[in-house]
Amino acid sequence: MKQDAIQLKGLTKTYRGGRGQPEVKALKGIDLTIPRGSVFGLLGPNGAGKSTLINILAGLVIKTAGQVTIWGFDQDRNPRQSRAAIGVMPQELNLDPFFTPRAALEVQAGLYGVPKSQRHSDEILAMIGLSDKANAYARSLSGGMRRRLLLGKALVHRPQILVLDEPTAGVDIELRQMLWTNIRQLNKQGTTIILTTHYLEEAEEMCDEIAIINQGEVVARDSTTNLLGRLDARSMVIHPQSPVTELPSAPGIIASQRDDGAVVLSYHSQQTSADQVLEAVHVAGITIRDVKTEEADLEDVFLALTSSL
Ligand SMILES: Nc1ncnc2c1ncn2[C@@H]1O[C@H](COP(=O)(O)OP(=O)(O)O)[C@@H](O)[C@H]1O
Ligand SMILES: [Mg+2]
Repeated sequence: MKQDAIQLKGLTKTYRGGRGQPEVKALKGIDLTIPRGSVFGLLGPNGAGKSTLINILAGLVIKTAGQVTIWGFDQDRNPRQSRAAIGVMPQELNLDPFFTPRAALEVQAGLYGVPKSQRHSDEILAMIGLSDKANAYARSLSGGMRRRLLLGKALVHRPQILVLDEPTAGVDIELRQMLWTNIRQLNKQGTTIILTTHYLEEAEEMCDEIAIINQGEVVARDSTTNLLGRLDARSMVIHPQSPVTELPSAPGIIASQRDDGAVVLSYHSQQTSADQVLEAVHVAGITIRDVKTEEADLEDVFLALTSSL
């Protein structure tokens, strides 16, 4: 028990529907433990309840029921200690445009009661690559720089647990690489990392362990290696040389055609090889102009898991 970073028991959140809207059961009794030292992924489609869970950890959303223990501290009985153990990089950009990056870090440190002598703003600025922008107004920073600053703000009180809510959604490759590098470095230094994502690829690259949430429930929880073995859905997109009259058909392959004429072939990589898929394409008499494979995103995976392939 001591060695868990986070422990959730029966965590429930129901948003009350205002103005005739029905209530939303965002979390339906989540039981989950997250080990110390891990990079833990909370994976799930939009609306699954990931941000709700994160925001409860951060103290930004009040839970409806259940127990939250952060670094051994019960959130209700020891709110100060449990809050001090965690730093959150939110999904939404919420920066004061009139603060410079250095000021934003200093103000945040002040909010967490970090004494001046123990602040490490310069170190954080260097880590997030904003040393040369330390004194620029936030409103003059690019979107990527603002996201990096949000990461920096989560670190001012040296939390044992860093939580990142969709850190790379909609960011360019360069920034994504930089965030990943930062995250790995922090984890190496001992910080427990929890990140939410709806990208399988990101979870695969970054996380040791993964919980999949869907509609407010944990539907799977395993090491990344084990999970991805189960979730091996792929799709191959074929752009044909000429219009297709007959879709490929073979066991283990689901073929469909897109409006633009491309043929999409869905398969499980553990059961069916890319070679077998291409063979089926040739048998159907299709000449390939261009081809690419895609790892299914989580929503595809859910579809694949519930359809009988
Ligand atoms: N403040 C809120 N009021 C009412 N419903 C909300 C609120 N925030 C989130 N929800 C609903 O709760 C569900 C889970 O949302 P969220 O936690 O943001 O999911 P995710 O981060 O996985 O996309 C969704 O149905 C969403 O519409
Ligand atoms: Mg979210």
